Amino acid sequence: MTDTESLRKRALTTLITARERTTLLTSCVEDPDLTAQHSPLMSPLVWDLAHIGNQEEQWLLRAVAGREAMRPEIDSLYDAFEHPRSERPTLPLLPPAEARQYAAEVRGRVLDLLESTAFHGSRLTEAGFAFGMIAQHEQQHDETMLITHQLRRGPQALTAPDPEPAPLFTGPSEVLVPGGPFTMGTSDEPWALDNERPAHRREVAPFFIDTTPVSNGAYQAFIADGGYDDERWWAPAGWAHIRQHSIHAPLFWHRDGKQWLRRRFGVTEVVPPEEPVLHVSWYEADAYARWAGRRLPTEAEWEKAARHDPVGDRSTRYPWGDADPEAEHANLGQRHLRPAPVGSYPEGESPLGVRQLIGDAWEWTASDFLPYPGFRAFPYKEYSEVFFGPEYKVLRGGSFAVDAVACRGTFRNWDYPIRRQIFSGFRTARSGAV
Ligand code: AVJ
Ligand code: FE
Repeated sequence: MTDTESLRKRALTTLITARERTTLLTSCVEDPDLTAQHSPLMSPLVWDLAHIGNQEEQWLLRAVAGREAMRPEIDSLYDAFEHPRSERPTLPLLPPAEARQYAAEVRGRVLDLLESTAFHGSRLTEAGFAFGMIAQHEQQHDETMLITHQLRRGPQALTAPDPEPAPLFTGPSEVLVPGGPFTMGTSDEPWALDNERPAHRREVAPFFIDTTPVSNGAYQAFIADGGYDDERWWAPAGWAHIRQHSIHAPLFWHRDGKQWLRRRFGVTEVVPPEEPVLHVSWYEADAYARWAGRRLPTEAEWEKAARHDPVGDRSTRYPWGDADPEAEHANLGQRHLRPAPVGSYPEGESPLGVRQLIGDAWEWTASDFLPYPGFRAFPYKEYSEVFFGPEYKVLRGGSFAVDAVACRGTFRNWDYPIRRQIFSGFRTARSGAV
């Protein structure tokens, strides 16, 4: 598929890109904001920083290169399974300066190793997989840290230009995806993670899917229609949850007289009606869809809409084809600190005309997080396997906070259906005529 030297170059640039972002996210606030816990849902930023270094050490310096542990006493502090997020501030974590120093030392050794490692010989080194996995891991924690920044109270610490204003989208509101089998998942994308594998055929009945994500304006109509007070629209567990926690709107929204305001990275602003809705739980997405007379797409439907090229019956890497994401395709990589208006990115649309499947907002699907037929955990069960089951719902497509290296038409994310601090939105679907 791609030759070794270009993969080696890609490993180097993606590791550098990830570290630049980690540095930005951990240097835009003072030390007390790095060690504080801004929400019980999140780790202190300084935990993510040292955990990034520790995973890099474990997988690249120890597993690939066979080196001894640099600081064996810290491994357990940064083991996500030993310590739940809420408990991490009480641990004897490395202070900010030491955490930076440790991550930088690991990185220095990794860059030397990258020069001398053969990109074959074991499953970990094949096509530079372990380097790609670690770049993706760091970018995933960068998104996690950006969520922590969004939860943090206090003045603005991060800025970014807004997306280009888009002309009002006037295309059809939904498209028909024809029924029939398509290839779901991948076996030949070199840096795809274990849960995206293997490629397999999936039968999908014909369905209609929204051309764009659901907008804040459309979501406000649901609220205005009493959607949060009408049990008919809600899954029973979702209804119980919103009652118990007095949830009446997306997270970070509040009402000021007649208008909805939101807090976004330290700034309060009017909720822009043309932007994809963000910070909704699976229960809220599911209720909105039922209110609209529709439903959430299944994960297979989402992927077929995103990857199936009806000409030649093949699955592409992205909706626009096989080319790596560029700025004109999608809102990725924290270039902006918000989604782009619905209908943006015509260059990124799928062959059937579905827009913004990649980037802007993670999209909740109807599906539980389950393994594909033939799944094998690699390189560790704790990446995916331990999470498989009906407690987690799958999200697809990635948000503005996802980097291109951790984003593909096959990429799978998952979370609890009550979660909404994540950059989550959705689009709706309905079954088509058979
Ligand atoms: C795939 C986003 C659910 O952040 O919990 C990070 C990614 N795995 N470190 C998470 C991950 C190990 C994971 N998600
Ligand atoms: Fe991690």
